[in-house]
Amino acid sequence: MCGIVAYVGEKEAYPIIIKGLKRLEYRGYDSAGVALLNGDINLYKVKGKVSKLEDFAANKPKTSTIGIGHTRWATHGPPNDENAHPHMSGNENIALIHNGIIENYDSLKKELITRGHTFKSETDTEVLVHLIEDIQENEKVDLETATRMALHEVVGAYAIVILEKGNPNRLIAARNSSPLVIGVGEDEFFVASDATPIVEYTKNVIYLEDEQVAVIEKGKEVKVTNIANQKVTPYIEELELNLEAIEKGGYEHFMLKEIYEQPQSIRNSMLGRLNVKNGKIVMGGIEEFESKFMNASRIIFVACGTSWHSALVGEYMIEDLARIPVEVEYASEFRYRNPIINEKDIVIAISQSGETADTLAALEIAKQKGATIYGICNVVGSSIARATDGGSYTHAGPEIGVASTKAFTAQITILALMALSLAEKKGSITKSRYQNLVNQLDTIPNLVEKVLKTNDQIKYLADLYKDAHNFLYLGRGYNFPVALEGALKLKEISYIHAEGYPAAEMKHGPIALIDENMPVVAIATRKGSYQKVVSNIQEVKARNGKIIGIVTEGDEAVKEMADYVIEIPETEEFLDPLITVIPLQLLAYHIAVMRGCNVDQPRNLAKSVTVE
Ligand code: G6P
Repeated sequence: MCGIVAYVGEKEAYPIIIKGLKRLEYRGYDSAGVALLNGDINLYKVKGKVSKLEDFAANKPKTSTIGIGHTRWATHGPPNDENAHPHMSGNENIALIHNGIIENYDSLKKELITRGHTFKSETDTEVLVHLIEDIQENEKVDLETATRMALHEVVGAYAIVILEKGNPNRLIAARNSSPLVIGVGEDEFFVASDATPIVEYTKNVIYLEDEQVAVIEKGKEVKVTNIANQKVTPYIEELELNLEAIEKGGYEHFMLKEIYEQPQSIRNSMLGRLNVKNGKIVMGGIEEFESKFMNASRIIFVACGTSWHSALVGEYMIEDLARIPVEVEYASEFRYRNPIINEKDIVIAISQSGETADTLAALEIAKQKGATIYGICNVVGSSIARATDGGSYTHAGPEIGVASTKAFTAQITILALMALSLAEKKGSITKSRYQNLVNQLDTIPNLVEKVLKTNDQIKYLADLYKDAHNFLYLGRGYNFPVALEGALKLKEISYIHAEGYPAAEMKHGPIALIDENMPVVAIATRKGSYQKVVSNIQEVKARNGKIIGIVTEGDEAVKEMADYVIEIPETEEFLDPLITVIPLQLLAYHIAVMRGCNVDQPRNLAKSVTVE
């Protein structure tokens, strides 16, 4: 959600923080702020993007070698200047930035008000900084101790960084359920909510664990303690991220770059796992838990958003090939509905960021109930990746555009590999089908490249339909989750209402909406339920709906009925989602651009949802 960047060292802090905030702007972008210490604390914060903050601070004093900065995604209180971070203590000695939610902020606030504190904002964060100040003053303790004591009173999730007047070389940081990374440079330190602002300065990082407090002081080693004040030896690891991967590389938007990266990101997901020559699939996590998978009574996927859609594809794949019963749950529902889980269940979290609060909480519940927990994550070292017993990274590379694209296809690639590997181990697939699917999977990156060549056609369609108020997306079987994903992409970035539906369900409701103004995107590739989708298209046509067909090259039947078709290469139905989703991503992208929407940072959305 919110983005955190802090610096202490020899250099000017402000430009480093601003650059870092821009790199993190995909996390939250409704307001931005910075606090710089140079004798006094200079605090600049505004509603709006980081560029607005730069304008605001342009002619103000910024000299400082220590500072903290923040981009906000509002939870408590609307986006405005006051609610923007950093927040200051009443005596203006402490400035604090925070990512997460303090759940008991209301009762803490009431108590602090009775003790004479007054608040300028509506945020939970301001309560925390006042609480620290209150403890510091009443208990006569230093900032580190006061912070630890305050965190004992706090219920909720937090990643915080604090600076204090009179301490120009020292930052205090702490985390619980919200990620925080410390970059260790030469005589300088960086702190951020993920590694993207750090990577250009140092590759040495410390990932703080839950309930840890770090004292980060120039010229000293990072001191880490747990909330009970026991010393912990921090583990310095090397980042695998590179700078190129987090820049736009000539594309107008990250989303477009990420759509075009898919041939490579799908290849990367298969790399070292799929050996077409000998037909072997080797996935470390699956090998490690082979007997658990072979004896699993069920696989339960928990996920949110786009990752939930790939989980649905995973359900079709694993049940179809490996014949293991699969359930797919919204993590947010699963965690609160007292699910029945047993030790023979394998609960698999799918998450691009590996930080989604609901998904993480769902996993914890599954763990408590004795299930084996597995992760399919993109971000290496993320909270979900570290909470699981085992897992498979998707290796899609950093995804910056808020609307997920390459992470989706990477997740499906992993699920395809899993389904094939499990089926082969179980003997639930014939050798020839297995080999055929392995061969086909290997060709997918080339097929995706081909589909990307339909871009101009899709741009043309986008222009025709950009003013529609509603869209319907239809698909069956493996392409039903793709219909959901296509509709989600359009909603997220163009703000057009769109619904995805299993094609046959249309007649149980959405058909009532169809008229000459309703574009219907029908995924009608030649495999699987082709004939049935064709019938559904006829039902739409009979009511004057506009059909955009996603069809297999050379298709004639749909071409005759549809207003427009996008032809894509043929593959096995099992692998269809990897290529049918591409035109839908491009359609959403071009419509959003033509409508003047901010594609990479759509309103109200955040890339990584670290609050429930
Ligand atoms: C947010 C993002 C979506 C993403 C979802 C789940 O809503 O905007 O793009 O699909 O979270 O995120 P995860 O990181 O768990 O895949």
